[in-house]
Amino acid sequence: MIKQFRFGSPVPIYFGENCVKNNGGVFKGSGNKGFIITSKFIAGYKNLALAETEEALKSENIEYAVNDEVIENPTVENVAHITEAVRKFNPDFIVAVGGGSVIDAAKAVSCLLPHEGEDPYKVFFGEWVSYGSTKNECSIPVFSIPTTAGTGAEVTGNAVLTRADTDTKLTTAQFLVSEAAFLDARYIKESPYFLLDTGAMDALAHGMETYVNVKSSYLNRAVAEIGFKLFSEFKDKLLNKTMDGEDYERMMLASTVQGMAFMQAGTTLPHGMSYPLSHHKGVNHGLGCAIFLGEYIRSFKDRSIVQPIVEMCGFRTVEEFAEYVKTITNRDVNIEVSEKELSDWADEFASLDFRLARHPEPINRDEIYRIYRDSLADYIK
Ligand SMILES: [Fe+2]
Repeated sequence: MIKQFRFGSPVPIYFGENCVKNNGGVFKGSGNKGFIITSKFIAGYKNLALAETEEALKSENIEYAVNDEVIENPTVENVAHITEAVRKFNPDFIVAVGGGSVIDAAKAVSCLLPHEGEDPYKVFFGEWVSYGSTKNECSIPVFSIPTTAGTGAEVTGNAVLTRADTDTKLTTAQFLVSEAAFLDARYIKESPYFLLDTGAMDALAHGMETYVNVKSSYLNRAVAEIGFKLFSEFKDKLLNKTMDGEDYERMMLASTVQGMAFMQAGTTLPHGMSYPLSHHKGVNHGLGCAIFLGEYIRSFKDRSIVQPIVEMCGFRTVEEFAEYVKTITNRDVNIEVSEKELSDWADEFASLDFRLARHPEPINRDEIYRIYRDSLADYIK
């Protein structure tokens, strides 16, 4: 019997060069007043996506305002602050122009808008929540225009926010999805390689973790397979830093596709194990996950589960795959960890993390510790 599953991918996707400028009518369909939410770009880099979004809105005679105050790993307070500005402007829709942080913040803003005067913590995590619903809780449409490729936030169904009170990252309970996503690979072309590396690795981790996940189904595996194939087509150029034209398009599409795949079943061990690295050591999210990918797939007792993934990604063996991922993470990650930290992280993960139940084989604390230790061997001081 085929096991029960749920599959949903509700976001229309516009893909290709100039897709924002060529589809201004999509914005117009949601009203005459838009609010662009973005973040400040790294000094020296031009926000081409913002310029083209403004152009598209102007050409449709849409009145708009711009707020660029989203911070990296946005906090509930950051979202609440931007919500005030949006409320004053009273737009018909929001356009999120940026990376995963911006898109998540914009979806959260849209969710918070109707809850004026309420405690945002209670809205996102407390008394008013709607777990497991398929109703989009964005109160006004959010159009997402990613300027990084990796998180897949433009197609996923929630937002990740930082709780300043407990200093932890949490996924909002509500179902929050974009009205549409616009994927133009020119917006990631100027990215420095460490950003491309972290994005490509995040998307790869989404695909691999969801593919082996016990909650996975025929459908989301089929979607992930498209992502693996796309990755196989640009992986060598990423490694050699010779990405050009279509490679960026493949990378952008792979990110969105793996977002669609992992929102069905979630992630497993590498994502969960990476949180101490991003939280305590400041490692970029995608690189933090990827550090564990090699040892994670080596840990499978039944290699037939992971061998097909490795091959779809363009490698012959698990070892070849692990070597590739290690080369990418080693060139970008420079941290120090202690044996004690690894042991503490293994204890915490093994005792708390819900992702263990999604792993397809029995796994214990010692095996988790082994993955931590062998993955981070180069960084132990
Ligand atoms: Fe991720």
